[in-house]
Amino acid sequence: MAARDWTVARETCHGRRGYCIIRVMTPAPRNRTIGLTDDELREYQKRLTTIGGPQSLSAVVDRVIHGDTTGLVDFLPDRCVDLLFLDPPYNLTKEFGDLRFNKTTSSAYAGWVDSWLAPLVRVLKPGASIYICGDWRSSSAIQSAAERHFTVRSRITWEREKGRGAKANWKNASEDLWFCTMGDSYTFNVDQVRLRRKVLAPYVDATGKPKDWTDGAAGRYRDTGPSNLWTDLSVPFWSMPENTEHPTQKPEKLLARIVLASSNAGDVVLDPFLGSGTAAAVAKKLRRRFIGIESNLRFACLAQKRVELAEVGGAIQGLVDGVFWERNSAPPPKVRSARSDQNRLLD
Ligand SMILES: C[S@@+](CC[C@H](N)C(=O)[O-])C[C@H]1O[C@@H](n2cnc3c(N)ncnc32)[C@H](O)[C@@H]1O
Repeated sequence: MAARDWTVARETCHGRRGYCIIRVMTPAPRNRTIGLTDDELREYQKRLTTIGGPQSLSAVVDRVIHGDTTGLVDFLPDRCVDLLFLDPPYNLTKEFGDLRFNKTTSSAYAGWVDSWLAPLVRVLKPGASIYICGDWRSSSAIQSAAERHFTVRSRITWEREKGRGAKANWKNASEDLWFCTMGDSYTFNVDQVRLRRKVLAPYVDATGKPKDWTDGAAGRYRDTGPSNLWTDLSVPFWSMPENTEHPTQKPEKLLARIVLASSNAGDVVLDPFLGSGTAAAVAKKLRRRFIGIESNLRFACLAQKRVELAEVGGAIQGLVDGVFWERNSAPPPKVRSARSDQNRLLD
């Protein structure tokens, strides 16, 4: 049974006498999916923020705001955001809980993107960076909307290694991230986002010393500068501690690379399509502040739960010793995981 099914099944069973049915639905021991019981849903809902008028930064920072981004953004202060991460519904027919997004024409999708992108410009600092997620169908609309408001600096493509093969097309195994800035002066911490790669050709200099690589306990490796092709990410799945029931959850490792490269400790990260809270949880682990907006109550509560589980300095899978490791090559993280605290809310 898939991790998502498990959550739904437990809720369906809640309150019934059939104790053994609930035991049958108990997830496999290695299933680490973050779920929400009915009691948790009620508790986390109380901790969400709702806003109905202009706000100070202190009223919205480090908060999960429950509501519709369209309109709510108008209540955020001017020029308060250092990093804007946007992961909107793509131009696909897809359900996000009670919200169904319907695939439309490229020009209608471009108009929709612009309807929420234009009002966001006011809340960005002059040195802010912006990342916008998309798939190949949505990317042209995103690029043209982004070019109207920002300087587009790169299109990052990341390998999305999940899903079945296509029978009459090339399997879609990639997504894009449009990297933009407000101006020419912006944060880019290249040394914080190096990728540790195995060295295949261990060249040595005339004295026999390794050329730009290290012979360490972890083998022969080189910490390379980041490119706009990211092949080291795993889409969260049921045995990963960051996994939730959200249908399009982004990997924490992807957010960590963006947050480390394009912000500094204490900076404000805004995610107006927060989903399960990946950007907020990563911001907290990496000592940034965040503002998150999510319209679906259940996802907003999941985001709140993830934020509360995330510790400052908490583990991010694949980011160890200050470098990003190739997929499935990182040693276990050295910091304590927040997972042991997961159920403290209802203790
Ligand atoms: C692609 S998902 C984001 C996933 C997220 N990055 C994560 O890692 O979990 C888009 C999210 O935007 C939310 N959403 C869609 N329209 C919205 C709106 N107008 N205001 C706020 N949230 C919205 C959906 O409910 C969905 O959870």
